[in-house]
Amino acid sequence: MATNITFHEGSVSHQERTQLLGQQGATIWLTGLSASGKSTIATALEQHLLQRKLHAFRLDGDNVRFGLNKDLGFGPTDRVENIRRIGEVSLLFSSSATLTITAFISPYVSDRQLARKLHEDHKPSIRFIEVFVDAPLSVVEKRDPKGLYQKARAGEIKEFTGISAPYEAPSSPEIHIKTDEVDVAQAVRIIVDYLEKEELIP
Ligand code: PPS
Repeated sequence: MATNITFHEGSVSHQERTQLLGQQGATIWLTGLSASGKSTIATALEQHLLQRKLHAFRLDGDNVRFGLNKDLGFGPTDRVENIRRIGEVSLLFSSSATLTITAFISPYVSDRQLARKLHEDHKPSIRFIEVFVDAPLSVVEKRDPKGLYQKARAGEIKEFTGISAPYEAPSSPEIHIKTDEVDVAQAVRIIVDYLEKEELIP
C-alpha cells in the first residue's frame, strides 16, 4: 500500500475535455461465457464507432492477459484482480473521453459491481453500461472455437468457467443480448441504439 501520495488535478476539467474533443466517454462492459460472442461483438462495435469518427477502444480478455495481466491465472483470486485492474483501466480510458469496450468473462457479480461503483464514484460520474452477452452453455460448448470446452471436459483445463468454475449472470444489465438469437450486426445495432437513446453518442 503506497503512502504519502497526492492526487494531481489536471488543468483541463472533465467538461472542457469532452467539449474540446466533441465526445464523452463511457464504459461498455461486455460479460459472458467464453465463446458467447463478447470479442466478436466488441470488435464490430469498435469498428462501427470508429467509422462514425468516434474515439472507441477495446480491451479484450485474452489480449490484456498477454501484457498488463500476464501475471494472473484463472483461480478466483486472480480473476478478482484481473477485473479490478480492468475496472481501473476502463475508468482511465473512459475519463479520457473514450468509448471503452471491455470484453472479459468477468464471472463474479461483486467484481462487476465494483467496476460499476468506480465509474459512479468518479467526479463527475462516468456511465457504465453492462451488456450481458448471453448464450446457453450447450451452445457455447458446441461453438468451442478454441477447443477449450473440450479440454475442460477432459480435465485438461482446470477451473474453466461454466464447467468447473462459476459464472454469475447479471440480473439487471442495461443490455441483454442473446447471441443464439441475433447475429453480430444486430447485436451491434442493439448497443448503438442504446448509446444513441442515452445521448452518449450523436
Ligand atoms: S476472467 O474470468 O474475466 O478473468 O477471464 P478473461 O480475462 O476474460 O479471460 C478469458 C479468456 O481466457 C481463456 N481461458 C479461460 N477462460 C475461462 N476459464 C479458464 N480456465 C480459462 N483458461 C483460458 C479463454 O480463451 C477466454 O477467452 P474468451 O474470449 O472469453 O473465450
